[in-house]
Amino acid sequence: MTLSVRPIVGRRAKITAFGTYVPPQVLTNKDLEKMVDTSDQWIMERTGIRERHVLAKGLGVSDICTEAAKKCLAMRGIEATEIEAILVGTVTPDMMYPATACLVQNKIGAKGAWGFDVSGGCSGFVFALQAGVKLVESGAHKKVLVCGADANTRMTDYTDRTTCVLFGDGGGCVLLEPAEEGEIGFIDYVHEIDGSGGVSLNMPGGGSLNPSTHETVDKKMHYIHQDGPAVYKFAVRKMAEATAKVLERNGVTGKDLGCFIPHQANLRIITATADRLGMDPSRVIINIEKYGNTSGGSIPLAMETAVEEGKLNKGDLVLLAAVGAGFSVGAALLRWEM
Ligand SMILES: CC(C)(COP(=O)(O)OP(=O)(O)OC[C@H]1O[C@@H](n2cnc3c(N)ncnc32)[C@H](O)[C@@H]1OP(=O)(O)O)[C@@H](O)C(=O)NCCC(=O)NCCS
Repeated sequence: MTLSVRPIVGRRAKITAFGTYVPPQVLTNKDLEKMVDTSDQWIMERTGIRERHVLAKGLGVSDICTEAAKKCLAMRGIEATEIEAILVGTVTPDMMYPATACLVQNKIGAKGAWGFDVSGGCSGFVFALQAGVKLVESGAHKKVLVCGADANTRMTDYTDRTTCVLFGDGGGCVLLEPAEEGEIGFIDYVHEIDGSGGVSLNMPGGGSLNPSTHETVDKKMHYIHQDGPAVYKFAVRKMAEATAKVLERNGVTGKDLGCFIPHQANLRIITATADRLGMDPSRVIINIEKYGNTSGGSIPLAMETAVEEGKLNKGDLVLLAAVGAGFSVGAALLRWEM
């Protein structure tokens, strides 16, 4: 390996703590068999999902972020008032506005922080992460909280078997801080959007184009609409392309990685990408079986799985990758410094 680390003007950025949260209620494939014409076998074979978590009524994505943020602050041993900026990658905000970042800021008591939401579909977390990294690298901030969370079950039509088996609720966050002398932290990213794919995955109701009315609700425009096979084809092609590009231009191959942490949309998309990278399957982080597709929440949740399984250790090169609504594509390379 000839890792060539891109020089930066300011300080390098690294992850110094993380936290996750999934709501306790579980919806299994067996439960779904009673709701729509599907089977545990079909869902497992086509997606790798066995169960997913469902957020209780009365709670929103800000509550997922808040619980995760509390764990993250406790891990780092700092007060919420030390956080300077909060970024939230989500497509299921509590409401159109204010931004979920504002709600999280208030709930954790991060007095004095600023922040914003990032709408990047399932790439929302990696997009928000990159924005946070730039805030640290530029020298603008020393403590940035980046959350990725979604409550997709709120936007799911439980009479549509083609979408209702896929999604779950949950998420997490990381704390970004300047790296110490000799540390590398974030190395590079390849992010991309392709709006021509917007027709293949969207939630058309409730925005300025189609504000909520009885008619939009009758037409089920407040639910996720997806052309699954079109999304699948794009995801397999672009996840492989973006990950290969970010590795290649930094002199790294799949074999040099400590682990690969992909967005958890479909087990077949993950394994196709890992195969193209020539990765040892034991270093590919997979937890889709118990969480389903949590959109912006999946990479922080998978990061925790990687740590729990002993697959993410100090000094490891780590590749993150996601593809989602937009279409959106994100791949990031970093060295884990915790
Ligand atoms: C949704 C997805 C799992 C469907 O798998 P697929 O292999 O493409 O299946 P198809 O959509 O071609 O459907 C095959 C058959 O299964 C049926 N089917 C669809 N959902 C089903 C379900 N839950 N249970 C049983 N059968 C189902 C279809 O009706 C179709 O039947 P037909 O052949 O009689 O018409 C897959 O396309 C996918 O994962 N796409 C990407 C989704 C995604 O990641 N979205 C989030 C973006 S990050």
